[in-house]
This record gives sequence, structure tokens and C-alpha cells, in this order.
Amino acid sequence: MNNKIKISPSILASDFSQLGNEVIAIAEAGADYIHVDVMDGHFVPNLTIGPGIVKSIRDKTDIPFDVHLMIDPIEPYIDEFAKAGADIISIHPEANDNTDKCIDRIKSHNVKAGLAINPDTDWKVVLPYLNKIDLIIVMSVHPGFGGQKFIPSALEKLKQLRAEIDNSNLDIELEIDGGINFENIQSVIDAGANVIVAGTTTFAGGKSEYANNITRLRGQ
Ligand code: DX5
Ligand code: ZN
Repeated sequence: MNNKIKISPSILASDFSQLGNEVIAIAEAGADYIHVDVMDGHFVPNLTIGPGIVKSIRDKTDIPFDVHLMIDPIEPYIDEFAKAGADIISIHPEANDNTDKCIDRIKSHNVKAGLAINPDTDWKVVLPYLNKIDLIIVMSVHPGFGGQKFIPSALEKLKQLRAEIDNSNLDIELEIDGGINFENIQSVIDAGANVIVAGTTTFAGGKSEYANNITRLRGQ
């Protein structure tokens, strides 16, 4: 059993027609965060959730909203997601926006800031921002869709980043996002991840299975 590991279910895999109830159910089942995948049909080839939807589900649970922005531009939308109730907002340095400015804008709302890096992005791109971010998301799929297969090269990135975070004594969470299942979760924990996004795996089997899925992910 691993108490220090946080599970952040991606509501992308939930039943959108029941979104409020799904958030309540997954929180009651033991989720630590709610992972909200925001896609703009431009930075990634899919369209998902806007700030209005985040706001509409904010009062369904007290657990933190871990909002993952896969959008470009980023800055014009930060205020709205912060006001909608995001607790953590993560952005992609691959977007053609000013990463530094966007981080500052997130922090101006007293919201935690994260950087998410794609499978083809060098982990070192986060280095200039380490003193001002709270979370790093290592993408283990190409962003855009849930239900994809885990890309193993993410493990080496996690190891490098875990060493960097620990050596510098930084208070940064290390999150893995994409393709996590019961079989591979231990490998990402061993590589240093402490926040685990899981969409397909947590929402599999409907409401009666959510607690069991989360318990199994924790290795209990
Ligand atoms: C991919 C998203 C992920 C994804 C996770 O673009 O950022 O959060 O939905 O879903 P699973 O766990 O199904 O890979
Ligand atoms: Zn995500």
C-alpha cells in the first residue's frame, strides 16, 4: 500500500451526461484530485471542457481540481479557469505562448502552477521554471485522447526529474499522465511519480467499481 501516492482520475473517461454525479462518485471512491483535460482542437486534435463546465462541477466535491490545459494560446484563458475553481493549472511549454508570463498569471490567482511536457519534449525544458512551479506532468501518451497506450520512454524522464527535484530539495509534485493501468502503475511509482492520472482505468466498469479501481491502483 502506498499512502503517499495521489490518484487523479481524468474525467475525460467519465459519462459526460452525468458529469456532476461522476465527480461525486469518483471523489467518494477515494480520488485525491480531479484531473480536468482541457483541449482546444488546435494545440491538440480534440475539443473537451471549458471553464463554464469546470465552474458547474466545482461545488460537487472539496478535493482539488488538477486542470491540464492543452490549449494555445494559453494566457487569455487562465483567469477564467482560476475563477472557475481550479486549484492547480498546468500548461504546455510546447505552446506558442510565453510560458513564464503564463506561470506568473496562474500564480497571481493563488493557484498552483504546473508544466506538462509531451513525449517528444526534453525534460530539461522545465529547468528554468523549477523555482516557481508546483507540479510537473510527464505525458506518457501524445495528448489529445484518453485510452491510449503508455509510452515507456516516460519512465526515464520521471527518473531524471525525480533526481532533479530531490537534489534541489524542491516542493514539486511529479505527475504521470496517459495510459496508466493496474499493470504499469508500479513502474511509474518506482521511477518517481507521486501523482498518477488515470482515466480509463479509474472509470472502468461504472460507479460500483470506482473504489475498487482506485484501491487496486494504490496496490492495496
Ligand atoms: C491525454 C490526457 C490524459 C488522458 C488520460 O491527452 O491528458 O489525461 O485523458 O486518460 P487515460 O488514463 O485513459 O490514458
Ligand atoms: Zn491530462
